[in-house]
Amino acid sequence: MKVDKVIAAEEAVKYVKNGMTLGLGSGSTVNWFLRKLSVQVKEGLQIQGIPSSKKTERLAKELGIPLIDFSATTHIDLAIDGADEIDSSLNLIKGGGGSLVREKVVDACADELIIIADATKMVSQLGAFPLPIEVLPFGFEVTVENIKKLGGIPTLRRKDDQIFVSDNGNYIIDCSFGPIDDSVTLHEKLIQMVGVIDTGIFAGMADKVIVARNGGIELYSK
Ligand code: 5RP
Repeated sequence: MKVDKVIAAEEAVKYVKNGMTLGLGSGSTVNWFLRKLSVQVKEGLQIQGIPSSKKTERLAKELGIPLIDFSATTHIDLAIDGADEIDSSLNLIKGGGGSLVREKVVDACADELIIIADATKMVSQLGAFPLPIEVLPFGFEVTVENIKKLGGIPTLRRKDDQIFVSDNGNYIIDCSFGPIDDSVTLHEKLIQMVGVIDTGIFAGMADKVIVARNGGIELYSK
């Protein structure tokens, strides 16, 4: 039986049209989307992709998906991305893979943003998943103390016993705030802090969310 992430990814490919410039998100669900997309590309579909992470760039190249440099265009027709949490207003927490800044830049540039996920990502309220916050390494200890003052419990992300470094050369602070009542206000408070590059709150950005649940598709629209 196909896993739901694969089913959501397959559904998203149906939204891709010939000639599109695509924003390519990051994560395991997007990786399935890339695999499915590459089959269509081999069959003649003409698209060009802008990857939102080095991992996505590597996989897309391996799969033969044509890529262009972001500096070559300011226009993206459609971005397909994953999420860590999705609430009923389609606000998101992203950044589980540490690519939140580039994802936000790419997703915000697209005419349409479609999020693909399995049903485990749907929540009644954001916040069970610790919020990823990308911070400048310089003086990050001060930034962490400031985040604590907002009521968060911050953890510096590590990978293989080393501090995790994003594609932008920054650190990620995973921060538990408990249930988030107002994601927009929380994001605004955090983004105003010196040293904070961006947060994993993607509020009001998703146009559609394709959720696969028990082999079936649910479509949520803005
Ligand atoms: C990476 C992300 C991913 O889209 C998010 O973590 C979902 O990943 P997956 O599809 O593996 O569950 O935001 O920064």
